[in-house]
Amino acid sequence: MEMHAQRVNRAKCLKGLQFYIETYGCQMNMHDSEKIAGILSTLGGTQTKSKKAADIIVFNTCCVRENAENKLYGNVGKLKAVKAKRPDLILCVCGCMMQQPGAAEKLAGTFPFVDILFGTTNMDKLPDMLETVLYKRHRCVEVCADKVAQENVAMLRNPPPLALVNIMQGCDNFCSYCIVPYVRGREHSRPMEAVVREVSALKEQGYREVMLLGQNVNSYGKGQPGAGFPELLDAVARTGIERIRFMTSHPKDVSDALIEQMAAHDTICKQLHLPVQSGSTRILGRMNRKYTREAYLALVEKIRRRMPGIVLSTDIIVGFPGETEADFLATLSLVREVRFDSAFTFVYSKRTGTEAADFEGQVPEEIKKDRIMRLIEMQSAITYESNLACVGRTARILVEGASTRDKAAICGRTDGGKMVNAKGPATLTGSFVNVKITGARKTSLLGKILDADTPAIQ
Ligand code: 5AD
Ligand code: SF4
Repeated sequence: MEMHAQRVNRAKCLKGLQFYIETYGCQMNMHDSEKIAGILSTLGGTQTKSKKAADIIVFNTCCVRENAENKLYGNVGKLKAVKAKRPDLILCVCGCMMQQPGAAEKLAGTFPFVDILFGTTNMDKLPDMLETVLYKRHRCVEVCADKVAQENVAMLRNPPPLALVNIMQGCDNFCSYCIVPYVRGREHSRPMEAVVREVSALKEQGYREVMLLGQNVNSYGKGQPGAGFPELLDAVARTGIERIRFMTSHPKDVSDALIEQMAAHDTICKQLHLPVQSGSTRILGRMNRKYTREAYLALVEKIRRRMPGIVLSTDIIVGFPGETEADFLATLSLVREVRFDSAFTFVYSKRTGTEAADFEGQVPEEIKKDRIMRLIEMQSAITYESNLACVGRTARILVEGASTRDKAAICGRTDGGKMVNAKGPATLTGSFVNVKITGARKTSLLGKILDADTPAIQ
């Protein structure tokens, strides 16, 4: 009886309270935030978009580059005064940054007003931790290493049409610059049936597009015979979900079977995010990427031959230790040769604990800045040209909602993932619409709605 009463208490422990989640970093973190939101709403809380109105504030952190960490420190620091005025405010910090050795303790020491600190795989402990803070009034710091995330976690997702679906966690690649294998642990793939069941359920709930997430989706299924990523894609396509995207793909693991599977299904979007990181084979070697410039170029050619018009994007790091002007020029020439539709460009950030942090030849800040500017200038022009080339074509977009710039317009993505803004009512949200592309912006397209080919989701 007492047990039952306790459970009822816990079920309601956040009743009447509002929570706000601030997410840093990648889509994996956004998806983790949906899980955290699910846990908090199961406990009776309601999500708010207003930090000021919130009774509970959660920072879901990233540590891939130093600037994400600095931003977090700044934003948590700002809450010191707020917490002094409102001692009942509950502050939580979680996610990748907490998984670095000593990081949670350091943050707890710097910000004694933060109540709860947890990691990437122990969010299931959040109800206990909240209870401790609410009823026992003492803070909780708990991070655990290399635990496998649980199945069947309640999630509070964005409403249809788009859903994020995690297919694996962790990374075994150990690129020499990257902290992810240390903070997210070893690769672990979810069972194929669990992913397929989740996508089928999402389809039933009115979702029309899924983004399959993993640090390295191509190595999905390692250790599960006959259940690799191409097989998973096929099984997900067979659920009948109308659009499938995935990220991130490691070039060394893009197999012919994957290319064939992408080509075989109309519902698998013809879009590939294929981080190259550098155009210099020497630097790629030092990065431990396990492919050469030539192999990458040959892969792109093969992909384009099989799927002409596929939209390609990439990640590039400049200023990696030992990168010379000649290495950087090799990156520029690769960018010119491939003509990516878009690219995320980063200045190398030294991450303690990674191999490259101890490499000789750390590149001075001014040189890194100069290189990133030159790279951005080149890629921006190519992205704009790629957008201009779409003008005059028709495209089918899935309407995601009202445009942020213009309330009388909607926005949605093409099959290739390019964002289109077009005049039209927000009631079209969730429907597929055919548009004529009428103009190009630097990072998006303008369109005119021709017709809506499917009814909007209620
Ligand atoms: N410095 C700069 N960029 C990095 N990335 C990962 N680690 C670092 C680092 N230490 C970039 C890579 C990766 C993307 C997610 O972040 O380009 O693909
Ligand atoms: Fe980091 Fe490399 Fe793993 Fe990507 S593949 S998460 S860059 S170690």
